[in-house]
Amino acid sequence: MVTGGAGFIGSNFVRYMLDKYPDYRILVYDKLTYAGNLDNLLDVDDAPRYSFVKGDICDADAAAQAIKTHQIDTIVNFAAESHVDRSIMDPDAFIKTDVYGTYVLLEAARQFKLERVHQVGTDEVYGHIEGTHRSVETDPVAPRSPYAASKTSADLMTIAYHVTYGLPVTITRGANNIGPYQYPEKVVPLFVTNAIDDQSLPVYGDGRQRRDYQFVLDHCEGIDVVLHRGKLGEIYNVGTGSEMENLAMVEILLDELGKPTSLIRHVEDRPGHDRRYCLNVDKLKALGWQPRYTHEEAIRQTVRWYVANEWWWRKIKSGEFKEYYRRLYGDRQALDTSTTNRSGWQ
Ligand code: NAD
Ligand code: DAU
Repeated sequence: MVTGGAGFIGSNFVRYMLDKYPDYRILVYDKLTYAGNLDNLLDVDDAPRYSFVKGDICDADAAAQAIKTHQIDTIVNFAAESHVDRSIMDPDAFIKTDVYGTYVLLEAARQFKLERVHQVGTDEVYGHIEGTHRSVETDPVAPRSPYAASKTSADLMTIAYHVTYGLPVTITRGANNIGPYQYPEKVVPLFVTNAIDDQSLPVYGDGRQRRDYQFVLDHCEGIDVVLHRGKLGEIYNVGTGSEMENLAMVEILLDELGKPTSLIRHVEDRPGHDRRYCLNVDKLKALGWQPRYTHEEAIRQTVRWYVANEWWWRKIKSGEFKEYYRRLYGDRQALDTSTTNRSGWQ
């Protein structure tokens, strides 16, 4: 049962697993929030080993019903409110889904004696990372946004269920994923689709924040490896193990599109913006996993997908999204760019 399987990473994971394991049956259980989209799963829709139930992970009865009816043995929980900016504007849904919803799934797994619950976590639990340190799984958690705090709570509860009840759990903590079917509120799809339409790209602050832009299929493979070879009760970081500045990402993106850097508009920063994330991924590598895509390949491949799939994102950007965009970016002050530097990427 892939909860949140109609979202960005979940839908890529479903496609990846159906393709790789011809004997697996997959149920997607998803509430279809603004971020859930059955278009993401159109190409597996008629596969006999795939089924879909619309449901909320906070609804214990509905989750239990789905587990019973579909004889579920494993839950991979992607379901979450996932966007930091939305968590700053309105944290409520984050507490409900990311914290309470995860608890509901853990309880259901305990009741039905499932073989595994895999919790899909994030590198944001470590908070801003100073200097050149790469976060290891045993580092203390230090979340700094409502989103990161809600995801940290989910990780902690998952471990607590393992320690207290012996529930067979694993956790992965992923870096900043990019690739097909990512909702265009996230920076890469937002900027690609804005740039295609010659709209400005609202870079927060000086744009020198550092992220690990990882191609989504590398993350899916990492989760697969942990599901099959990971040790119960353990946490595994999933990233490329390297980092890049946001401005460098933007310049590659514009280069792939053949658009000018004059589209970049520095705007007021995100409150509490974490300056740097960087993961040490040795623990996952020790299980035999390797990332296949560099940052640059991941960015260029993602750009090409959005260029080729306007049918997918134009619908989204014309709906609820317009109001969201106005609310988040409408009053945002432009910054004086004479004091900000370009990344120097060539
Ligand atoms: P997304 O926002 O694209 O998708 C979330 C999915 O969860 C949607 O299909 C939505 O409908 C569903 N959902 C939301 N609330 C639900 C509820 N109460 N019950 C059932 N379904 C619900 O998110 P994403 O970017 O694909 O992220 C998936 C998971 O991976 C999240 O847990 C996120 O925290 C984690 N993660 C994301 C990234 C990233 O870069 N996007 C990196 C690391 C970890
Ligand atoms: O690191 C993993 C996390 O990556 C996941 O847990 C989250 O679910 C996912 O949303 C992502 O979080 P970020 O906050 O890093 O992603 P976002 O795409 O929102 O922003 C990436 C960087 O780009 C960040 O430094 C903020 C910056 N940014 C973002 C937006 C939306 C901008 O400069 N301008 C923007 O308009």
